[in-house]
Amino acid sequence: MKTFYLTTPIYYVNDKPHIGHAYTTILADVLARFHRNKGDDVFFLTGLDEHGQKVQQAAENRGVQPKEHCDEMAPRFLELWDKLHIQNDDFIRTTEKRHLKVVQNILQQVYDNGDIYEDEYEGLYSVSEERFITEKEATSAEFQDIKKLKEKNYFFKMSKYQQALIDYINENPNFIQPENRKNEVLGFLKKPLSDLCISRPKSRLSWGIELPFDSNYVTYVWFDALINYITAPGYNSEKANFNKYWPANYHLIGKDILITHSIYWPTMLMSAGLPLPSGIFAHGWWLSGESKMSKSVGNVVDPLGLIEEYGVDPVRYYLMREMVLGQDASFTMESFVKRYNSDLANDFGNLLSRITNLLKKFFDSKIPIVEDDSTEGKVVKESGKKIIEEVWKQVESLKVNEALENILQYIRTVNKYMETMAPWKLAKSNPESAGKVLFTAAEALRVSSILLEPVMPNRTQTILKTLGAEGSSLDWGGLIGGKDLIQHDILFPRIDVNKSDKENLPKQKIIESENIISFSDFQNIKLKTAKIVKAEKVDGADKLLKLQIEVGNEKLQIISGIAQHYSTEELIGRMIIVVANLKPVTIFGIKSEGMLLAAKKGKNLTLLTIDSEKVASGMKIY
Ligand code: MSP
Repeated sequence: MKTFYLTTPIYYVNDKPHIGHAYTTILADVLARFHRNKGDDVFFLTGLDEHGQKVQQAAENRGVQPKEHCDEMAPRFLELWDKLHIQNDDFIRTTEKRHLKVVQNILQQVYDNGDIYEDEYEGLYSVSEERFITEKEATSAEFQDIKKLKEKNYFFKMSKYQQALIDYINENPNFIQPENRKNEVLGFLKKPLSDLCISRPKSRLSWGIELPFDSNYVTYVWFDALINYITAPGYNSEKANFNKYWPANYHLIGKDILITHSIYWPTMLMSAGLPLPSGIFAHGWWLSGESKMSKSVGNVVDPLGLIEEYGVDPVRYYLMREMVLGQDASFTMESFVKRYNSDLANDFGNLLSRITNLLKKFFDSKIPIVEDDSTEGKVVKESGKKIIEEVWKQVESLKVNEALENILQYIRTVNKYMETMAPWKLAKSNPESAGKVLFTAAEALRVSSILLEPVMPNRTQTILKTLGAEGSSLDWGGLIGGKDLIQHDILFPRIDVNKSDKENLPKQKIIESENIISFSDFQNIKLKTAKIVKAEKVDGADKLLKLQIEVGNEKLQIISGIAQHYSTEELIGRMIIVVANLKPVTIFGIKSEGMLLAAKKGKNLTLLTIDSEKVASGMKIY
């Protein structure tokens, strides 16, 4: 049995999953399902990247331990994969013990090979990218939070493997795909390759995997993350399983992480004496309209909103159909609705309802028994046989969008065949011929549904169930005549929009828009209970009061504009709610270290207070 091992990148645990993440994972799922249907032994891996500066920082901002932060964030991905009906075989988190062991083992091997050396390095360091950058890079907007650093660190001799990597890429034309990405990597390799700094001193970053040969350092997050691809199949723990699946057939990635996957990773594997993956495939970006999806712009499309509104299958179909191999694609509600209505409602769904309506009307809801051997019928049959091989070839070369177009073209041909043969007329003059036409059309629909099953696993099942053909094979001739039709709902109800009126288009759900903050943003605001212990007027400011508050063990001073609503006496002892992590400011020359919460109606202001019998000060508000 052939094995097929494919991976998605492991996603940053901090991020809220969006359409871009969903795309790679669905693509992997679709390929995995095609290969499983073909009888291959598939191992499909996805997971989360949980170490590094950004995770440590996000956890600090939320006032929790990094591991706790990861545990709280991870379910967002798991829930989405569940909703998208992703059937992955393993889910790896880089904080797992099995991974730590493998990373340390590889580091030790590379070290023992003499491929890691210690050096003092002075340069520009980008906190946002978590690496040293060049002077030129420092001038681009991509890198933020840049500081000059002089540090002793460990370096991996990547340069040693430069020629070997160039040779490997040239000898294995499918190693990096598509072609333009391969050329990009070869272009990069024309310049001398520098060595890779693979350590971070614990004094600066402690959230990572410790170097086995120096406990003062953790390893660079990419050195750790890439190794997940060998941890999961069982490197150094389940030898047989590892040898069965490794090297991976495909690492599916986005174009932004091409260099790490095509240069860092292969040279790391060379140093560790392991075979390189057979293929690295870098897809393009999903844009939001014309621009790159970005959290700061607030145009990141939320896949959950789409699934809720239109169901999971249309979302999977749209993403797979709309992105052309290797190019960027633009997500708009307009193109979503257009694609849905034309391909799914008009072509695919319509073929099913035409066939079932006619069978109900003229054949007592029974599937006829004999196929159509007219010239037209034979064309449908022959194309139906041919398309199976074509689709498989397209899928094997990752051209899923072309495979889908091919299947839809075939469905359109079958719809035309129905129009030409007009079984609704034939049913009155020649019922036997009408039955044959409907049988052939239903068989074509069955084959199309099985071909589309990896992309739309649910609704294709409904069709197969309707035709009593669940579990039937892809080969032409699988439909069994004489069975009763099973009732079904309309498969793809049309989305009704007035074509000329863009205003009427359903609005896409955006993850972070200007007025909406993410849960993690909310978590960054520390709301706490606080007891007012002292209140005084501020000289010269008749609206302000100076409050001394107790937030647990902490004592803070707040300047608040409530003097016209509360007397100093009535405030003492009250349990209020404050934003406890606000940057201190100076108001009227006095330091203010927080903000209290109050509600205003007209001119009246009321403090938010809480029963001091029930809560102590310093408690977190959720
Ligand atoms: N953690 C690293 C990967 C380590 S793999 C050993 C990482 N994570 S990520 O969450 O930032 O990105 C994961 C994947 O999502 C990348 O392949 C990236 O290209 C992809 N995408 C993120 N935004 C995207 C779009 N807008 N469109 C398509 N894919 C995009 O990088």
